[in-house]
Amino acid sequence: MKFPSEPFKIKVVEPIKHTTREERERLLCESGYNLFHVPADSVYVDLLTDSGTSAMSDNQWAGMMLGDESYAGSKNFFHFEQVVRSIFGYRCVIPTHQGRMAENLLFSTVVKPGMVVPNNIHFDTTRANVEHQRAEALDLVIKEAYDPQCELPFKGNMDLAKLEAAINRVGRERIPLVLITITNNSGGGQPVSMDNIRQTRALLTRYRIPLFFDACRFAENCYFIKEREPGYAETSVRDIARELFNYGDGCTMSAKKDGLVNIGGFLGLNNEQWAQDLTNMLILVEGFPTYGGLAGRDLEAMARGLEEVLHEDYLSFRIGQVRYLGELLDAAGVPIVKPVGGHAVYLNAKAFLSHLPPAEFPAQALAVALYRDYGIRGVEMVTVMFGKKDPASGRTIHPELELVRLAIPRRVYTNMQITYVAESIIELYRQRETIRGLRMTYEAPVLRHFTARFEELRKS
Ligand code: F0G
Repeated sequence: MKFPSEPFKIKVVEPIKHTTREERERLLCESGYNLFHVPADSVYVDLLTDSGTSAMSDNQWAGMMLGDESYAGSKNFFHFEQVVRSIFGYRCVIPTHQGRMAENLLFSTVVKPGMVVPNNIHFDTTRANVEHQRAEALDLVIKEAYDPQCELPFKGNMDLAKLEAAINRVGRERIPLVLITITNNSGGGQPVSMDNIRQTRALLTRYRIPLFFDACRFAENCYFIKEREPGYAETSVRDIARELFNYGDGCTMSAKKDGLVNIGGFLGLNNEQWAQDLTNMLILVEGFPTYGGLAGRDLEAMARGLEEVLHEDYLSFRIGQVRYLGELLDAAGVPIVKPVGGHAVYLNAKAFLSHLPPAEFPAQALAVALYRDYGIRGVEMVTVMFGKKDPASGRTIHPELELVRLAIPRRVYTNMQITYVAESIIELYRQRETIRGLRMTYEAPVLRHFTARFEELRKS
């Protein structure tokens, strides 16, 4: 196993508190067994998300001091715009405070009721934003993405046959754009190959449909292309990114991931008419086009973060640390989604807790057990998060995959803490039969995972 060596040293530390099992038990009870409602300072290793949780570099913090907080024409905006143009290549750059605002602006401008937006797999906010326009969000990833054991280098790829069939069924005029999520968060953080992107582009050109990227984890995706796709080993990640984005017409970006910042996002695109409409909307709901819901200092940190994320020693460590966790678990027989993705290890809860039926929310039960016994916070993905219902009966549809995502914040945890996570999960796996199922006692109509409440079932 290759040890991921850190290309940085620690200059500032943030203390973390140790809690007892009893305290965590009480917190779980109070939070309705929903880890979103557990206070973060009662978590030892927080793997809830890799979003907005990165450690910024000294260079980014130095940039924060150079924030120009002018309402209009801040110099940090021009730096940010120049960096985005140089990496992504899109002419129009619209800053937003985070990714979902970019999605909301784009979809509320170009998606109309009854339209269809295909993607490899929509992330929850993306799906919710499409559905908010009374349009349909279609997931068209290759079928292997749903098999946790299938080891393909690019398991995030779009299924081109399914995409073409969907275009023919729906009609091109009802598809305002196609999205590709890089890496495919909801399908295990798996990358999409350059070849698949090129072919998607060619197909969409034939039907005159724009292609957009959901680009949150673009640098990680490009690093996988360099590692795995023939012909790219000698190409820089920056050049890979340039080629990749060149096949698209635009992107939405949550810079809280590969922007290495705690807040920030943007839209990049070439269509000037769309950009104008989006900007008008931006002014209404976010702010003036040279700050878009952010402070000047945030734009500077984002500009610097987007440069740093392309450093290949950083990416090698980053992808290596996530893989290291996955390999420790895999070697001990813990069921995980394979291959290991770019930003997270996904536990296959169905196999981990094979004694629990789907109706007892095995992934949520596993996330609860991991917090109660070890103070580690992961997140349930799929059943609770996506909350698909049978329209006739109103009952929850239990999908094929039941996952607990352990998302690794960027540059935050040491390899020893990651080793602690692995050892804890391995120990929990050995006593998995003791883990009890859950019953949902409250759910909201949208994005229910944030507010759902559960009760633990008694041992039968
Ligand atoms: N698209 C993808 C693929 C994402 O993973 C996220 C956020 C967004 C869009 C929305 O960005 O949070 O800045 O509004 N994902 C986080 C996560 C929340 O935990 O995976 P945002």
